[in-house]
Amino acid sequence: MSSKKVSIIGAGRVGSTLAQILALKGVCDVVLWDRKEEHAKGIALDIKESAPVEKFDISITGTGNLRDLKNSDVVVLTAGVQRKAGQSRDDLLISNAEIIKPLCEGIARYAPDCKLIVLTNPLDGMVYMAKKVTKFQKNRVIGMAGILDAARFEEFIAMELGIGADDVFAVVLGSHGDFMVPLPRYSSVAGIPLVELLPKQKIDKIIKRTRNAGAEIIELESSSAFYAPAASLSLMVISILEDRRRIFPCSAYLDGEYGVHGIFMGVPVILGKRGIEKIIELKLNRKERDMVNKSAGMIKRSIKPLLYKV
Ligand code: 2OP
Repeated sequence: MSSKKVSIIGAGRVGSTLAQILALKGVCDVVLWDRKEEHAKGIALDIKESAPVEKFDISITGTGNLRDLKNSDVVVLTAGVQRKAGQSRDDLLISNAEIIKPLCEGIARYAPDCKLIVLTNPLDGMVYMAKKVTKFQKNRVIGMAGILDAARFEEFIAMELGIGADDVFAVVLGSHGDFMVPLPRYSSVAGIPLVELLPKQKIDKIIKRTRNAGAEIIELESSSAFYAPAASLSLMVISILEDRRRIFPCSAYLDGEYGVHGIFMGVPVILGKRGIEKIIELKLNRKERDMVNKSAGMIKRSIKPLLYKV
């Protein structure tokens, strides 16, 4: 048993993989909720039965009852329909808003003090919806996307350079979509600026692949990615649970930062026990600022239909 509790909403491939990662790391007890209760119970039992082999000792249970979210330190919302090949994430806006609205009401009711991490797509819209419905303070509602996008950018850089990804650090701002803003100027390999290691056209090619990485996975495996998203979520959960105050790109509510107001967008934040401890404002050049403003404008336009739903 652990003194910390994380509830995962949605026992799909991301939620189930995250549950297993957290169990293996032994950092918290896990409740896995799904509207198909038996499915959640089966996944939880399956993970639990690996305990004698993996030597972890946490409680993991499956449920279909939102009351079981009680006393969660962190709730991770993964429920929602996935996009299909050829669809954009924004095509899911209304259908996933309708799915997550009652779930967010349940989170507010049964885990009113939790930090809420949202994965459901379209991410910047769904995390906006989650804050509106739960009425949580802005530091306690966080979207997971930037870590995933940055990880992809880092991996593609490592592949291009023929090196391990451990020493590659990349920054990605903006929306989780075609208008995301990878920042080569703030990316490096073992402290060496990326722009000193790769020519512009190679970097541009990698950025293009990063923007399309989610769709590339769907084309290949006829399902949305789940291993890299689950791994990215686990970093956020652990930084919050253990108050590690790590810096990650996350979708955060902006109240003037980067000149943006009233939406969630990917920016570097410090993640600790309070959730978002601080938003970090990078000094951007004109081209970078223009891309961030464009990304913010696209998010503002994409969430307009939500304004009438909450
Ligand atoms: C992705 O980019 C699921 O949006 C997520 O794979």
